[in-house]
Amino acid sequence: MELKKYADYDQMSEAVAKEIAAHVRRHPRTVLGLATGSTPIGLYRELIRHHREEQLDFSEVITFNLDEYYGIQSDHPQSYHRFMQDHFFAHVNIPEQHIHIPESQPEDVQSYCRRYDEMIEEAGGIDIQILGIGSNGHIGFNEPAEELQLHTHQVQLAPSTIEANSRFFSSRDEVPRSAITMGMRSILKARRIFLLASGEGKAPIVKKLMKPAISTRLPASLLWLHDNVQICVDGAAAQLL
Ligand code: F6R
Repeated sequence: MELKKYADYDQMSEAVAKEIAAHVRRHPRTVLGLATGSTPIGLYRELIRHHREEQLDFSEVITFNLDEYYGIQSDHPQSYHRFMQDHFFAHVNIPEQHIHIPESQPEDVQSYCRRYDEMIEEAGGIDIQILGIGSNGHIGFNEPAEELQLHTHQVQLAPSTIEANSRFFSSRDEVPRSAITMGMRSILKARRIFLLASGEGKAPIVKKLMKPAISTRLPASLLWLHDNVQICVDGAAAQLL
């Protein structure tokens, strides 16, 4: 696990975008694993800039998002389908059929989740996975627990996640209680992983994460088992290191 500290959020976003852009130029058919939330917004903004100003071509890129709230309409302003359209997909040339985001309410959840992992395999596996980190240590929506799930699955959100994400909804009651998320193995199979953390609110969990030990109570700590992970932090998230 390699720690990369950046002076601020913009520098972090620019640096990670540059790495992804370089990879996509070398390998146009890159498979990207994508996250939502506040943290990667700057990264998406930078990738859009590379597309517009530096002719970065996404026409062969394939994407798989980590998660989606369960039971939310895909045009709901807080759905991750909508988030990805607004912050990234509407502004670059990724063909629609190359974009994968977990369905919010599949008819048969189990077989749909199995199919989602199969689709990742059929695409050749994820080349670069972008992650944020919850202040409770979750990645995707793999919440701290006694046991973690390996594959894509439906999960109950932790009270702390509902609380944290209520900032995007008009009230806490509106936050969906459950989500479909890629599992730990789905994430750890990615060839290269960037975990981004920004702001002082993330400083305590970043400090815990940098202790080289693993625990299902800190799902992100399982990234220590992977050989190609960069933990990218801005100054505020690094302040307790
Ligand atoms: C989002 C996701 C989550 C977020 C995490 C941090 O797709 O999988 O794990 O990355 O909750 O969210 P922000 O960036 O809003 O602090």
